Amino acid sequence: MFRMLRRAVVVLLLALPVPALAQTPLERGRTLVEGIAACGNCHTPKGPQGDLPGMAFAGGLVIDEPNAFRAVTSNITPDPETGIGRWTDAQIIRAIREGVRPDGRVLGPPMPFALYRDISDRDATAIVAYLRSLRPVRNVVEASRYPMPLPPAYGPPLGTVAGPADTPIARGAYLGGPLGHCIECHSPMGTGGQRDFTRAGTGGPPLNGPMGAIVPPAINGPALRGWTDAQIERAIRQGVSSDGRRLAPPMAFPHYARIGGTEMRDLIAYLRSLP
Ligand code: HEC
Ligand code: HEC
Repeated sequence: MFRMLRRAVVVLLLALPVPALAQTPLERGRTLVEGIAACGNCHTPKGPQGDLPGMAFAGGLVIDEPNAFRAVTSNITPDPETGIGRWTDAQIIRAIREGVRPDGRVLGPPMPFALYRDISDRDATAIVAYLRSLRPVRNVVEASRYPMPLPPAYGPPLGTVAGPADTPIARGAYLGGPLGHCIECHSPMGTGGQRDFTRAGTGGPPLNGPMGAIVPPAINGPALRGWTDAQIERAIRQGVSSDGRRLAPPMAFPHYARIGGTEMRDLIAYLRSLP
């Protein structure tokens, strides 16, 4: 009887969908950080050939916003001296979601804190598990310069954060907002230096890049009306617009190429739902 029961349990386990069983926090963290969250797009320093070899997540990439600030991204490898190796899990999660360092100092832009606040506890824990597994890289990074006063905080201290409701559009909104910050670039500025997410996906102000100013276009329902799902997917994964034009960085195409099939469908459903 016991043996039969055990066999039944094994058969049942094998019949369940694999991801639900198989993804450990570490694997979930890798999927997010190397995929839609694309943390390395800002935290890995780049040269003319792309990511500098051996410097993954070691920081030092300069993001210059003329007349506003000069941000230098942090070393988020587990190096104890120059990275975040000595921080506790809770301290790392607080820095990511609330923009506050362990010593209480507030982090500056352009890390998208307004959106990262809604990363679920489960995903924040997974992201930290993956960061801890990285190769520590010793790399002293110069301080960012923010001439403007930074806010005392990006919001009240967080309690627990649940994931999205289990519908395609809610899951897609979570991917395009808190996890992938698509709507950070693709939404207009509102008041107080914050994005206006009531107009999410209607296009953002120009970004300064090596090739000059480049405008994040509207990616909402009306803008994508003439696009097939395959064309939207190709733009996100491969950086090719509907008319075949090559899209310029800083969108993180090589990371987005790794987004799973279900996630991509949810993300597209969300974009199409935006007014
Ligand atoms: C758009 C660029 C950008 C993205 C995307 C981004 N960051 Fe950052 N991050 C920064 C900048 C810039 C700083 C430093 C801010 C400062 O100096 O005040 C920073 C600081 C941090 C810090 C604080 C470390 C320290 O020593 O102060 C952590 C932790 C961190 N980022 C983790 C992440 C993770 C994890 C992700 C992906 C989920 C991520 N970041 C995505 C730009 C970015
Ligand atoms: C760091 C800023 C940034 C982020 C983050 C970002 N984008 Fe973009 N995106 C741009 C820019 C800039 C362009 C226009 C590039 C060009 O014209 O060469 C663009 C173009 C696009 C296009 C093509 C639109 C067209 O008319 O050709 C789509 C679709 C798109 N983005 C969707 C997304 C999605 C989905 C995400 C999140 C997974 C995302 N973007 C994240 C900056 C960003």
